[in-house]
Amino acid sequence: MTRPIAAFAPGRVNLIGEHTDYTGGLAFPMAISLGTRAAFHPRVGSRQLEIRSRLFSEAAFVPLDLPPTTEAVARTEPSWARYAAAVVAVIEPARGGVVEVTGDLPIGAGLSSSASFELALALALGYEGPPRSLATTCQRAEELAFGSKTGILDQLASASAREGSAMFLDCKELTVEHVAVPGELEIVIVDSKERRAVAETAYEERRLECMAAEQVIGPLRDGRPGDEKAISDRLLRRRARHVISENERVRRFKRALEEGDLAAAGRLMDESHESLARDYEVSTSGLDDLVGSLRAVEGVLGARLTGAGFGGCVVALSRPGALAGRLGGRPHWLAEPAGGAQLTPG
Ligand code: GLA
Repeated sequence: MTRPIAAFAPGRVNLIGEHTDYTGGLAFPMAISLGTRAAFHPRVGSRQLEIRSRLFSEAAFVPLDLPPTTEAVARTEPSWARYAAAVVAVIEPARGGVVEVTGDLPIGAGLSSSASFELALALALGYEGPPRSLATTCQRAEELAFGSKTGILDQLASASAREGSAMFLDCKELTVEHVAVPGELEIVIVDSKERRAVAETAYEERRLECMAAEQVIGPLRDGRPGDEKAISDRLLRRRARHVISENERVRRFKRALEEGDLAAAGRLMDESHESLARDYEVSTSGLDDLVGSLRAVEGVLGARLTGAGFGGCVVALSRPGALAGRLGGRPHWLAEPAGGAQLTPG
């Protein structure tokens, strides 16, 4: 048998800048070593892809000529394969065959398992283009599978990452600035194990609320702290306050890392969590408790929920070793800044 075309795409942990990407704001993620690997075995003359995943017993079959519409993608069974169908519909691969997918990211835990799956699959199926195009192509696939608009954070982070660095992302200009992660700190991801079905509905609700706020004060990405006061609706005012202040925190976080002011970086993470919990209402009492218990540990500089919220993971910034042996039985990872999505030896 010939060697497969294989690709790996990392998941990401967002250090700060949450729920800012879909209004073209700023975010500060870092790729992690967990991710998805896709290995493609082309079959001469085949006009479909058989996609097998170790996580699911049933294989999925996707025709190469699947139309790029939400309806066509939504008809794909089993349902886990809709993300695969969406990638196929968007990149229109030339050849059919078998794809084997493996990965070690927890699913739906806020570490970008879907973006990592999309990027690995697109590369293995022969997608060629710079990281930014790979990201926007896979974002289109995400939207087809998800059924509504999402931000670019996850795909851009997975596509553009560089080992040893986190990234300052401008989600409107789609620019990426690599910022070295200081060696004298640890980034620890802890899974709350909480998974909420409401996450998708609430995500769409928040996006619409931001659009409504923008009707009153213009693009939130250009907003300055206090601009939200011009919004009379209290709920929309709080949503806007989160986004505007979060963009500001991302700028300050970047500066803090560059200046080696790790205590300030940690405080900004704490403030981000408070803002997400109070103004944006995407936290849960479980996440709040977990964040609180991490912050109580000596040597932890800051902690916050990461990803869309409503469960999933939290991320803590700590002095090396501070959390060792302090996490009980909770699944956790020491995150090292990893490189971006790429072809790998088959
Ligand atoms: C999810 C989405 C991202 C982003 C985050 C919240 O991970 O996929 O685009 O909106 O939520 O910051």
